[in-house]
Amino acid sequence: MTVTEREIRYPGRMRVLHWLVAVLVAAVWPLGMMIKFTREDVKLDFYMLHESLGFIVLWLMLVRTGVRLTASPLPRPAAGIEGLASRTVHGLLYVFLVVMPVSGFMATNAHGFPLHWFNLVEIWSPVGKSPEIAPWFSAIHTWSAWILLSLFALHIGAVLFHHVIRRDDTLTRIL
Ligand code: HEM
Ligand code: HEM
Repeated sequence: MTVTEREIRYPGRMRVLHWLVAVLVAAVWPLGMMIKFTREDVKLDFYMLHESLGFIVLWLMLVRTGVRLTASPLPRPAAGIEGLASRTVHGLLYVFLVVMPVSGFMATNAHGFPLHWFNLVEIWSPVGKSPEIAPWFSAIHTWSAWILLSLFALHIGAVLFHHVIRRDDTLTRIL
């Protein structure tokens, strides 16, 4: 039996990047949401952890985009409307996984709190303390967080649909 483009798995480096980003986002998203409910004496630690882990997502996503654009062979999405839906959701996930860390980084700098990555190094920022634009970056960050969550829900819905109802090889392509 020949292996078709739909049956092949993602290359190893793409599978590793998928799961590294997935694990990080699974920690960073709830950490971000928890910040406003934490006690004052630990708030800064929550910010530091949230921002330092979130910053790693930015660099992983830049590497991932490069790998995605150059990797081959890749599994082909389904034809027609289903393929269009899958390409759109995957494309938007890539976009928002970059928008999230960039807007958060800009927000914290614009509010006047530069990122001290894991309390080890201060990260240079093109934006300094700028109270007039800080709320905009914060708003982009918060809205994008809910958009990312919605995309993730669609993503998991599609994975379950393929695995449980269609019973095809979609899930195993990324394992
Ligand atoms: C994948 C990366 C990231 C995700 C998924 C994420 C997610 C979130 C979420 C869900 C919130 C809570 C929003 C709310 O309370 O309404 C939040 C808040 C926040 N995040 Fe992130 N975040 C990420 C990366 C970053 C980075 C890299 C920084 C800074 C270097 C950052 C800085 C902040 C700040 C300062 C807040 C408090 C709200 C604000 O003033 O904007 N985030 N984040
Ligand atoms: C339990 C969690 C997850 C499962 C079971 C899962 C499963 C999958 C599967 C099966 C694919 C391949 C789809 C296809 O070939 O058509 C895929 C691709 C993808 N997943 Fe996930 N995923 C999970 C979590 C996440 C998370 C948290 C994110 C990001 C927030 C994410 C982002 C992506 C993206 C962007 C792709 C497209 C890969 C590409 O074409 O480059 N996934 N995932």
